[in-house]
Amino acid sequence: MRVDILTLFPEMFESPLSCSILKRAREAGIADIVLTNIRDFATNHYRKVDDKPYGGGPGMVMMPGPVFDCFEHVQKLSPQKGRVILLTPQGQKFDQKKAIELSRENRLILISGKYEGFDERIRIGLGAEQISIGDYVLSGGELAAMVIIEAVVRLLPGMLGDENSAKDDSFSEGLLEYPQYTRPEVFRGMKVPDILLSGDHGKIAEWRREQALERTKKWRPDLLKAEKKEERR
Ligand code: 6GU
Repeated sequence: MRVDILTLFPEMFESPLSCSILKRAREAGIADIVLTNIRDFATNHYRKVDDKPYGGGPGMVMMPGPVFDCFEHVQKLSPQKGRVILLTPQGQKFDQKKAIELSRENRLILISGKYEGFDERIRIGLGAEQISIGDYVLSGGELAAMVIIEAVVRLLPGMLGDENSAKDDSFSEGLLEYPQYTRPEVFRGMKVPDILLSGDHGKIAEWRREQALERTKKWRPDLLKAEKKEERR
């Protein structure tokens, strides 16, 4: 997969892209992640990329010119068309289902804005879909882009050590993940459940399913309601 990121702050991505899973994905050639600075496409003498909103009001708005020029430059860097995503709190909420969907694309083009928003003609003109990572406001889309990249790249073929481990992730089956234990068998008086030491794989699978259901009911009942809603459709 190729991922292009258009941003005013490419430096923000350096450390997350150089550690852990994203480092591994890039080194293995599984994900090619390319940063492009929108400010390099400013035409103004002061390298200005934002301006006051027409009609008045607080804050600054990303100008369409630099974003369009940057986008057209980036698109030509590779032959695939790519799925164009604008990071904004107005977008559709990102979830595991969306991560799986995006992991099937061969190219993503993520556009991250700072300031109070994008000129509306950016969304319309680029035919971009909008994604938000949750109902709160960040001062820019950079962290949201990183969240999406991390969630998507770990699902790419060849990334997970054990192919089943994505299937067991929290949310993949609409449930939270079951409780996990590792050594030691007793830690500060707390013992690993006997069933996990029994070697009975059928019983263990059954116990895990029950546990997943129980903790979802207790901690995230909204997920169960969402699941029922899906079934009714
Ligand atoms: Cl994608 N951008 C911004 N600025 N704030 C957000 C967001 C995105 N998702 C949640 N809050």
